[in-house]
Amino acid sequence: MAGLAGLSLPTANALYAQGLEDEKNFKDLPKRIEEYHKNHVQRFNMSGYAAPAIENVRVGIIGLGNRGPTYIKTMGPLKGVQIVALAELRPEKAVQAEKMAKEYGHSPDIYAGDENAWKKLCERDDIDLVVVTTHYPAHAKMGIYAMKNGKHTAIAVPVAATIEECWELVKTAEETKRHCMMLENCSYHTFQMTTLNMARKGFYGELVHGECAYNSSKMHNNFTKNFYWNMWWLKEYASKKGNIYPTHGLGPICQMMDINRGDQLDFLVSMESKDFMMAEKAAELNAKDPFYNEFVGKDYRGNMNCTLIKTKKGRTIMLQHDATSPSPETYIMGAYGTKGASLKYPSPPRICTGNHKWASQDEYEKVMEQYKPKIIKTFNEMANKLGGHGGSDAYKSWRLIDCLRGGFPLDIDVYDSVTWSCILPLSSWSVNNNSNSIQIPDFTVGAWKNNERNMDIDLKYYANTVLK
Ligand SMILES: NC(=O)c1ccc[n+]([C@@H]2O[C@H](COP(=O)([O-])OP(=O)(O)OC[C@H]3O[C@@H](n4cnc5c(N)ncnc54)[C@H](O)[C@@H]3O)[C@@H](O)[C@H]2O)c1
Repeated sequence: MAGLAGLSLPTANALYAQGLEDEKNFKDLPKRIEEYHKNHVQRFNMSGYAAPAIENVRVGIIGLGNRGPTYIKTMGPLKGVQIVALAELRPEKAVQAEKMAKEYGHSPDIYAGDENAWKKLCERDDIDLVVVTTHYPAHAKMGIYAMKNGKHTAIAVPVAATIEECWELVKTAEETKRHCMMLENCSYHTFQMTTLNMARKGFYGELVHGECAYNSSKMHNNFTKNFYWNMWWLKEYASKKGNIYPTHGLGPICQMMDINRGDQLDFLVSMESKDFMMAEKAAELNAKDPFYNEFVGKDYRGNMNCTLIKTKKGRTIMLQHDATSPSPETYIMGAYGTKGASLKYPSPPRICTGNHKWASQDEYEKVMEQYKPKIIKTFNEMANKLGGHGGSDAYKSWRLIDCLRGGFPLDIDVYDSVTWSCILPLSSWSVNNNSNSIQIPDFTVGAWKNNERNMDIDLKYYANTVLK
């Protein structure tokens, strides 16, 4: 299989072409999955891998649009972090990001205005960690190139758009022994970390079912001129099917079910409504503004996608994605076991102690306090100061940096990153094939049976990284 790192970055129109290319390969996807599986030999088990400690973590960030600057804000103030370089296609965004980095006492070199300049950032020999926060079709390519150039990588969600990219990320991480962590902030919400602790301590008995979602309308943002670089999100919705944003909900549920370490995702089926909103909106906007002409007449992703997953141990997961309807935002986050249950949305969050009723608010608070993991007790004050998605961005950045500084295994490894991301192409295949089932690759090729837990909410490993 050809490596991806040498290919040049897709241009705006190539993004469309990439979508079409994937569609062409869809027919073969089950066969391709079988072949990748048969041919993949785990060169090194990255689960539980602890890279040599790096006292002062030198960071480069690629892509400084809406999301990238979060990492300046949450890593910049930490002791033992130096932001060395920033790569951004749009010079004005690079200038803003540079200014922000300076406010935190960093003087990064800037690579701007050239769509391949990010490679130069990856090639530097004074960078330890490359953070990738560009549009997701470019994630895998950038992460692979960074690892091949000896850097650990932390990549925004999702880490990959195709099955081939998923395998290539795994192969590269195993060959180079470089970390590849997906920057999944939802794993670091207080509710998610506490319910993970509850799952580990037996509150649910045996977990039977999880339900999760990213149901949050992006109609405004996606159709606003250049809210996202090059209207890339709208182009994604105009050219793909399936759940193209699965990881915020699925990640924490997989962690509760010990996926990749005791259980494994087995197969999925995915069903999608028709699009009742986006094509209409594109036509409406085009009537007043020719800018929207290229978005007219597209076969948009359906408004609601529902994906059902079965695990090897026989559990089930229901995963939704709705980015258009005007209903209230929900991530659902339900976990149901033989002894107890919890549900985060619709608010207020609730738990059930096994008596067929949701507990009172008092009891909820008592139980949540009882199961609050050490990570929250230790870092909550700092997380509140740094902020970002209710402090979850701060936890995530801090844990990543602290683990690199201490030489500890990361909370989310390359297998988790690709397992949660591979739902994109797989759900797309299922939607395009009458909701037939499709096998979910085992990127650990069997190692999941013996891998140990990694999301270290008890802070077994802790290097005491503090604010400057
Ligand atoms: N909670 C979360 O975890 C969360 C939230 C928002 C976005 N995201 C993820 O973050 C990523 C970025 O989203 P966003 O909202 O910031 O998008 P964006 O369009 O605002 O930013 C992407 C940036 O990448 C830049 N870019 C494109 N090609 C480049 C290249 N060749 N070299 C350097 N820079 C390049 C663009 O100019 C743009 O500024 C997405 O993958 C998205 O899924 C995650």
